Order: sequence, then structure tokens, then C-alpha cells
Amino acid sequence: MSSKIVGQPGVIEALVPCVEMFQAGLAPENRPVGVFLLLGPTGTGKTRTVEALAEALHGNAKSLLKIDCGEYQMEHEVAKLIGAPPGYLGHRETQPALNQQKLAAVASEKCGLSLVLFDEIEKAAPSMARLMLGLLDRGILRLGDNTQVSFEKTIVFMTSNLGAREMMREMAPEIGFQSAVPIAPEEVAGKLNKVAINAVRRKFSPEFVNRIDRVLTYQPLGAASFAAIVDHEVEHLQRHIVARLGSRAFAVDVPFAARQWLLENGTSVEYGARELKRTVHRHLTQPLAAMVTQGCIGAHSCVRVSVGPDRQSLSLRVGRESETFGSPFPSVLVVEKNRELSEFLDRQMRDAGWDVHTATNAVEARRIATKRKLHAVLVDADLQDESGVALAAQLRRANPQLRAIAMTRKELGHVEEGLRKAGGVAILYKPFAMRDAMELVYTQLREPALERFEDSPKAA
Ligand SMILES: Nc1ncnc2c1ncn2[C@@H]1O[C@H](COP(=O)(O)OP(=O)(O)O)[C@@H](O)[C@H]1O
Ligand SMILES: [Mg+2]
Repeated sequence: MSSKIVGQPGVIEALVPCVEMFQAGLAPENRPVGVFLLLGPTGTGKTRTVEALAEALHGNAKSLLKIDCGEYQMEHEVAKLIGAPPGYLGHRETQPALNQQKLAAVASEKCGLSLVLFDEIEKAAPSMARLMLGLLDRGILRLGDNTQVSFEKTIVFMTSNLGAREMMREMAPEIGFQSAVPIAPEEVAGKLNKVAINAVRRKFSPEFVNRIDRVLTYQPLGAASFAAIVDHEVEHLQRHIVARLGSRAFAVDVPFAARQWLLENGTSVEYGARELKRTVHRHLTQPLAAMVTQGCIGAHSCVRVSVGPDRQSLSLRVGRESETFGSPFPSVLVVEKNRELSEFLDRQMRDAGWDVHTATNAVEARRIATKRKLHAVLVDADLQDESGVALAAQLRRANPQLRAIAMTRKELGHVEEGLRKAGGVAILYKPFAMRDAMELVYTQLREPALERFEDSPKAA
């Protein structure tokens, strides 16, 4: 699950004890095994989490009973959930959306636990919450025909974007200078949690809120998470091609520059990863499908994806399988006089699959930059032979697609700060956590290359 859900620390860990309780046979009687409320902005992985759990438990992401609360916006629609009482017109035709058979059908031989998801619960009519009270409290839902459905072997999930707007507002001042001020993630999480829970308390009754075991708050996704999701999508697309086309399958090569283009065009604070998935679909999956139907792609060939000359679209070219292709990871130059730090950065980035080059001075750095195709450069502002900021700005002038970050321990002087801003060089204050450094590289790579960078004040 952790490889499927990115950028949401703590979420998976919160689910584990609940599943273990069930598997150990120690789950409480007369109530669901667990009741979780997943909160946060759109496209941050709430629904995906439940699907990923279904995959983990039952080997199939579809093994869950999903109630789209958007379909129960009117009071009379809520009755569909439990079916009409006998004697009512159409009683026999109205199958309740929830019954014991349906619950049993989403468990598996591997695991007898059923997952029920009330998706986007804020959309349902108020009577839905009343109906759910008994379910959450005693683990029983009484249907229209007076039969009972037991939820003792289920985990009940509810998702909602209640409070998401306030959460975004809470985050907004930090997003701009994320680079310079690494706020403790726990602190952010705590704040967001509070905002979200307050929104829930305003909408639902105290009885309802009290029956929730755990509220999990999802955070807006960071740049590195978006990058990981693009990698997932590309991998998924490749597996799909192999599974569906069999002997006619072909390889798709999406080098880093193309992934970066997808990120630049698909990153949305408002729609989270949804916009990103749409972008991959529109610019990669659909054009590929068109090429397949036109018979342009032979078996065992490779489709190489690159950024079109106008940077407005991706271009897809069929090549031979044996061609050598671009790396899916960024290529980064680290210019740092402190060998220990440079070796550390080198090792960490390599572990993440990045292609790393290191230099200890400006002369060496220039030599590497002319020979290698680099995506980003991290420069120590205080190099021995010259100003690191000037070097970074110069490298960027020579290659406007290159993203540059100056690492500094102290506030830059007036002249250097001017150079930095004019040159579009981002700043990273030492000491920094590796995670923040890599996140910043991804953030920079996502920004359209020629835009000026935001001013990033040092932590107060
Ligand atoms: N944190 C995440 N990790 C991995 N993929 C994600 C994440 N958030 C969103 N996605 C991708 O975006 C899609 C939409 O996310 P979803 O879980 O439906 O969002 P919501 O939070 O609105 O329920 C998912 O199917 C998944 O592919
Ligand atoms: Mg959802």
C-alpha cells in the first residue's frame, strides 16, 4: 500500500491495527471492525486508499462496496439504500443498495473482511447520517423489509472534502516558500487535522462524530508526490499495454523531460492528482491508442515520447526496441566544496534513481554542464573559486531549461540576491533535510522554466 499511496504519512499506519484486530479474531462485537473518516482536498488519494486496501486484502481494487453519496442527495433517494418497505409500490423491484449478500460478495477467500465506502458523504441528504447512526453504533442496518444487515465483519470508510477549502487556505502561505522554510510536517498535519475536524463538527451531529474511530486528514500533494504519481501512471500504462495487447505489445519510453512536461501541464492545486491523470490520458494514452488503431506500431517496437519543439504537446515516435533510451529520472549536478555533503547528496539522490554528477568548483561544474544533459543544478553559494549564485545564473542562461538552486547557510548579500532573482535561481537554506532538498528540485522542475521564481524568505 505504501508504494501506491504517496505523500500521506500516517494514513496506512492508522489502518493496520484495525485489520490486525480482525485477523486476530479480536475485533469488538456488535459494531463494525473500524469506522474511518477520510478528509482532505480532491484528488489527494482518499478513495484510492480504500481501493489499495481492497487490493491488499482481496487482490482486487474493486472488492469493496462503494456507496456514491452523490446519488443520495434527496431525502427520498436515501430510501433506495435500504429498499422500500413491503406493501409499497415497487417493493420487489427496489433492491436495497446495501444488503448482506452484497457485503459478503466483496469479501474474499483470502480475507473475510468487507470494505464499505460511503464516498463523498457531505453530498448525501441529512437522513443518511441518521440512518448510519445505528450502523456505526451497533453494527446493524435495518432494511426496508425489516431484515437486518450485520456490519460486524466490515470496515466502514467515509470520505469527504469538508473543510478542504479552509485547509488549503491554511496551507497557502506556506506553499510559496516551502523551499526556504521547512515547517515540521507534524505541525502542518496537526493544523490541518484541526481545521478539518472543526468542519465535520459543524456539519454532523455529536452522536455521529463520536462514532467515528479515527479521522485521517489528507494533505495537498507536494511536488515529489506528483512526480511519483506520474511514474505510477506511466508504469501502469506499460503494464496495461502488455496485458491487453499480448503478442502485439510494445514498449513505451517516457524519458524524464517528457515526465516533467506532464507535471508542468498537469499539476493542479485544485484537482490534485486527478488533473494529472487526465493530462497523462490526454497526451499519452489517447495518442497511443490512436497510433495502435491506425496500425502504426509494430509488435516489439518502442514508442519514444519527447517534448514537441513548441513545448505545446508531446511527440510520439516509433523506434526499434534496441535503441537506447532516456532515463526516467532527473539528471542533477551538485556543485559543493564540502565533500562530505556532496557525497551524501550524491548517495541519497542515486538511491532514488537520479543520475547525479558532482563537482567541487565552478571550473569542474562548467565542464560537466557542457558535456551532460542536465535537468537541475544544486550549487553551493559560497564556492572557493567564484560565486555559486553567479555560476548558477550563468548555467541557466546557457540552458534555459535547466533549473538551478543555490544552497546557502546565511542570507545572501545584496548583489548576489539581485543576481539570484534575475537569474531565476531558487534558494535552499542549510542545513536542510534531504527530503526537502529533493522536494525542492521537483518543485523547480515543475515550474515553467522561464518564469521568475518566487521570493522565498528565510524562516523567521
Ligand atoms: N496520494 C496519492 N498517491 C497515489 N496516487 C494518488 C494519490 N492521490 C491521488 N492519486 C491518484 O489520483 C486518482 C484520484 O484520487 P482519489 O483517491 O480518487 O482522490 P480523492 O481524494 O478525491 O478521493 C487516484 O486514482 C490515484 O491514481
Ligand atoms: Mg474520492
